[in-house]
Amino acid sequence: MSAGSEFVVVANRLPVDLETLPDGGTRWKRSPGGLVTALEPILRGNKGAWVGWPGLPDVDVDPIVEDGLDLYPVKLSAQEVADYYEGFSNASLWPLYHDVIVKPVYDRKWWAAYVEVNRRFADATAKVAAQGATVWIQDYQLQLVPKMLRMLRPDLTIGFFLHIPFPPVELFMQMPWRTEIVEGLLGADLIGFHLPGGAQNFLYLARRLAGQPTSRGNVGVRSKLGVVQVGFRTVRVGAFPISIDSGQLDELSKSKSIRDRAKQIRKELGNPTNILLGVDRLDYTKGIDVRLNALRELLEEDRVDPEETVIVQLATPSRERVDSYVQMRGDIEQQVGRINGEYGRVGHPVVHYLHKPVPREELLAFFVAADLMLVTPLRDGMNLVAKEYVACRSDLGGALVLSEFTGAAAELRQAYLCNPHDLDSVKDAMIDALTQDREAGRRRMRALRRQVLTHNVDRWARSFLTALSHGGVAGSALMPD
Ligand code: ADP
Ligand code: G6P
Repeated sequence: MSAGSEFVVVANRLPVDLETLPDGGTRWKRSPGGLVTALEPILRGNKGAWVGWPGLPDVDVDPIVEDGLDLYPVKLSAQEVADYYEGFSNASLWPLYHDVIVKPVYDRKWWAAYVEVNRRFADATAKVAAQGATVWIQDYQLQLVPKMLRMLRPDLTIGFFLHIPFPPVELFMQMPWRTEIVEGLLGADLIGFHLPGGAQNFLYLARRLAGQPTSRGNVGVRSKLGVVQVGFRTVRVGAFPISIDSGQLDELSKSKSIRDRAKQIRKELGNPTNILLGVDRLDYTKGIDVRLNALRELLEEDRVDPEETVIVQLATPSRERVDSYVQMRGDIEQQVGRINGEYGRVGHPVVHYLHKPVPREELLAFFVAADLMLVTPLRDGMNLVAKEYVACRSDLGGALVLSEFTGAAAELRQAYLCNPHDLDSVKDAMIDALTQDREAGRRRMRALRRQVLTHNVDRWARSFLTALSHGGVAGSALMPD
């Protein structure tokens, strides 16, 4: 282990997650979610450190060196997992930042745990970072770390990136600890969001809640940054849409083993004309219920033939002890049962539903096999699944139905865009995509691929880190409130 790291990523989770085996032992597996998908390829092979929670409560794990990456585990007690992670992070912040799809719960005890755990992450990072190092803090679980870390280590360059949407001002104002959160983030030198809208919302709140002067001009994508003046410090604010390792997926998906597996999947599903696919963490933001409802109505109206159509829904278990997730799982499994009960035959269900993570290569084979990818979140910061599907379609086949309420929709304009709050819009997008002219479909996919292959995750990280190290391109002049 080195004496101090020049580059440190700080995230709630390490890129690998400890899981308990039936015999009571433990093993490491890949952590769930888009944050790890995006950051792992950037750090793999590069010298750096990653500070994060190993995924189980009350475990003491020594630092680990993996692929040149130093992993520094932060211990959380079972009570902290309940209050900081399941509570404040995932029952207060997550629903608030996703347009209050479910009602956020605000609990003073959860907030106290959030402050406490953020302080522990800041302390751990202060010990790991070399003099003058760059520290990149990730996501909504750690919004107080920038300020806490700056107080401990003013020598560091500190970046922060939010992987989920930053909410409209009117919603953010619900948060009882709204000023503390804005001030926490303002400890960073650069604060990144996926979209300019999030950056603009934040600039407004920095003026209103923290009373700091800010720039007033529009923030651009990867270009024009906003500025907040915090005393003598200038904090920059920008939009950096995240992406995937598209080149690697493109290569892998062309391999014989994956193409063969894709053919086999089609066969196992009975070689239907249309394979529809959904791939998500089992989360209420993802609109899994929306696509199942749309399909059920299309079946009811005879617009889709149950003999020629199957849908595969791969759903990774997520946040299984949080009430709203328990409730949603029950609802979705009921919908699956209802469609199969009404439209399936023995040995020929319409919905194939898996509640488990699928190995990476198997997932890519599903992308290659699917005629229609259904990405229908009610709100999503980016949605990497949409980009992964496109990266895997070098054959220019398939079609993407994409919710307008994802960050990805700002870039993937040639998808079949739909409004997940309007079931007719989702159904029409599905039918348009299923009946598309082959050439028109290939043209759309070619355009989507151009976007995804030229805007990969490397470019995302470079644009953020360049702006962080150079101070970026400043926005319009500061205007005091
Ligand atoms: P989120 O970060 O909210 O989970 P994203 O779509 O941005 O959503 O990222 C999800 C990541 O997790 C993607 O890399 C996707 O391939 C992966 N993933 C999602 N569902 C599954 C699944 N059932 N099996 C394996 N990987 C999955
Ligand atoms: C999203 C969040 C990540 C989170 C991931 C998985 O991608 O932005 O911060 O790690 O979901 O969720 P979990 O609660 O299992 O870490």
